[in-house]
Amino acid sequence: MTALRVNGRACEVEIRPGDTLLRVLRNRLGLTGSKEACSRGECGACTVLLDGVPIVACMQLAVLVRAEVTTIEGLTEEARDLREAFADRGAFQCGFCTPGQIVRASALVREPGPPDERTVRLQMSGNVCRCTGYTQIVDAVLDVWRRRLSAT
Ligand code: FES
Ligand code: FES
Repeated sequence: MTALRVNGRACEVEIRPGDTLLRVLRNRLGLTGSKEACSRGECGACTVLLDGVPIVACMQLAVLVRAEVTTIEGLTEEARDLREAFADRGAFQCGFCTPGQIVRASALVREPGPPDERTVRLQMSGNVCRCTGYTQIVDAVLDVWRRRLSAT
């Protein structure tokens, strides 16, 4: 058994040498919010945070993880405003990419700014959406980033 810290909790989990972090999260810990699509680091559906930094969990060997893992399930409170902004802006349709989008955006909107569209597009460019055309996603992230900065 290997120790992982996930969403603020210590977990003991069986990890085989070739297991990806995504497989462990979904299949051993039941955290299915991180989605599996391309399985080769290209779509961002499996994005999680390692010590607050977004990574694609399908490309991360679980056995090498020493940092705190945060999945979409661990962002229930922190990302409430992002979820609401995505809904308000119509930033999802099928919703398959949305957990990964929100996890990545959650790291971005912690930054001191200034919020601008180019930065959002660049930072979110690893997260593919086949439905929305991206403009609504960018607008939702900008809404939250601006709101958070104006509240500080
Ligand atoms: S499933 Fe991990 S990047 Fe696509
Ligand atoms: S909302 Fe369907 S892939 Fe993004």
